[in-house]
Amino acid sequence: MVSPSALFAAAAPEFLASEPQHPSAEQIELHDGLLDRPAHIDPKFLYDALGSSLFTAITQLPEYYPTRCEDEIFQRHGADIARHIGPVQAMIDLGAGDCVKAERLFPSLRPSHYVPVDISADYLQTAVRRLQLSYPDLRITAVGQDFSHELALPADVPAEQRLCFYPGSSIGNLGPDDAYAMLRRIRDACPGGGLLVGVDRVKPRSVLEPAYDDALHLTAAFNLNLLRHVNAVLDSDFNVEDWRHVALFNSERSRVEMHLEAQRALHVTWPGGHREFKRGERIHTENSYKFTPQAFSDLLHRAGFRDVAHWSDTRGWFSVFSARA
Ligand code: AVJ
Repeated sequence: MVSPSALFAAAAPEFLASEPQHPSAEQIELHDGLLDRPAHIDPKFLYDALGSSLFTAITQLPEYYPTRCEDEIFQRHGADIARHIGPVQAMIDLGAGDCVKAERLFPSLRPSHYVPVDISADYLQTAVRRLQLSYPDLRITAVGQDFSHELALPADVPAEQRLCFYPGSSIGNLGPDDAYAMLRRIRDACPGGGLLVGVDRVKPRSVLEPAYDDALHLTAAFNLNLLRHVNAVLDSDFNVEDWRHVALFNSERSRVEMHLEAQRALHVTWPGGHREFKRGERIHTENSYKFTPQAFSDLLHRAGFRDVAHWSDTRGWFSVFSARA
């Protein structure tokens, strides 16, 4: 068994060791996005430790159906899905968060090595410590990494029978070109292995919009918290009270969009930059693409996957796809 401290020493050396560049890649990315017209901030900045906790709370809301639909699919079709996937040695969990979704599949997939990857390293560290207590014999290598541009797996992850697990419709945060590039990257990381991916489906606006604008305003808090995270990374002076959460379904582009809207004319500054926002001007913070099963199946084939199969919940709101890399 690996000691808890060793888990991270092996998994995220760059995270702890590298001299932070000034300005850092994250700071440059934020600076450029804020000066764009319209302004935008990548949704990965939603996930600091508090943002990850808020997202976990969102998944328990009645309006936020994707998590429950996906759970239903794994419960009803788990055995079938496991049969389609075949034997698994290493289960690579992309955007693992609290690792709970993967844990539910351990009994049917029986991985010997679990490799959770998440941009929120602190949150992941807590989750993995808990998990190791429940599964003392499972080898766990936690990787604190932003896999949006490159997926660098530790050298000791078995190359055989890898399964990439990408649940929760996280792939929906990527635009068409980036989703394609991500699938290629996953295929290259799991040659001869498989992919298990959750995808949210196109459905009426009356279901989609409340899922991203709930009565308890947890999604508003989740979106606004991004500004606190940006302030911490960029040393900017965003004032959360000046902004309002906006969520809308863009049916032409088949995506739910989240924005932050300035409630009055504002001036925001940070080292090396500043910007005026007019009242009503928006910062685009997230896209959540919705697919038809045909469109996603086509995307998988284009990215080089084969043996594509999918399962849905009884309402047909969400789909889980399994494919060979
Ligand atoms: C974690 C990306 C799947 O797009 O539904 C939840 C994030 N944003 N509420 C999604 C999210 C607003 C979520 N994903």
